[in-house]
Amino acid sequence: MTRLSTAITLSGGAEIPRYGFGTFKIDDDGAQAAVETALATGYRLVDTAVGYQNEVGVGRAIAASGLKREEVFLTSKVWEHGYDDVRRNLRESLERLGTDYLDLYLLHWPRPGVDLYVESWRALVDARAEGLIRSAGVSNFTVDHLARVEAETGAAPEVNQVELHPYFSQPELRAYHDEHAIATESWGPLALRGGGLFEDPAVQAVAEAHGRTPAQVVLRWNLQRGNVVIPKSVTPERIRENWEVLDFELPQSDLEKIDALDTGVRQGGDPLEVGN
Ligand SMILES: NC(=O)c1ccc[n+]([C@@H]2O[C@H](COP(=O)([O-])OP(=O)(O)OC[C@H]3O[C@@H](n4cnc5c(N)ncnc54)[C@H](OP(=O)(O)O)[C@@H]3O)[C@@H](O)[C@H]2O)c1
Repeated sequence: MTRLSTAITLSGGAEIPRYGFGTFKIDDDGAQAAVETALATGYRLVDTAVGYQNEVGVGRAIAASGLKREEVFLTSKVWEHGYDDVRRNLRESLERLGTDYLDLYLLHWPRPGVDLYVESWRALVDARAEGLIRSAGVSNFTVDHLARVEAETGAAPEVNQVELHPYFSQPELRAYHDEHAIATESWGPLALRGGGLFEDPAVQAVAEAHGRTPAQVVLRWNLQRGNVVIPKSVTPERIRENWEVLDFELPQSDLEKIDALDTGVRQGGDPLEVGN
């Protein structure tokens, strides 16, 4: 079996775990419980955002885990744009999370109608230089947004976190990421918003062939396609089920069967519209 590396080295030099834990739609108390379970299970990357309103709970879970701060890769995201607003949001996130640095900070959405994402990106580049964040990235950026920030600031984002699952696998965007040394991080990897993926005959056939669940198969496909993957669950059994994807491998033929499910249709928000 080809062993997947457990981490990817980002263009800025830091290492990001290949696999992590999402916390969207969980409140502070729920996030504390879920992240404690995830950390006890073995996850070492936790993904939150100002907009999730659960940074306090996430911070408490990390503090309660007994792990050293540097053993956990902590990501947050900023919704507000504008240089000063991003800087203020970062200070507030650090306070809520009870830490003095983030491993990764992302602009949550490009919000092109607001048209401040370039100066917002500069705020992240400066925060990285000051050590407040180890790595700087973006989320939901299209090729045009990525190209513009790189052209105007000379600094490419280290990560772009985007909707990515078998029904929306973003081949063109991933190719651009690869050419520009941008790591792809997949949100919504279980594609449950549109539903149907777990019942898809192709996914079910692959799952049966490997004695795995449909969730495990689509998460494993995402990992083998080279992405950082961050499934979310508040259910302890599922948190553990989703973790058990590191000890089997899908052959090329199965990866291609799942590649063929791409519809090109997103289930989540459109980067050109959200937050304008
Ligand atoms: N950057 C962005 O704009 C953005 C947008 C969305 C999400 N994200 C990040 O990405 C993370 C993951 O995305 P997501 O939360 O939207 O979706 P997801 O991880 O694809 O799916 C989560 C849903 O799947 C269910 N689930 C989890 N494991 C399962 C399993 N093994 N079997 C059956 N159902 C299962 C969960 O239910 P239970 O919780 O009830 O178990 C929950 O309803 C988020 O939590 C967040 O951190 C980022």
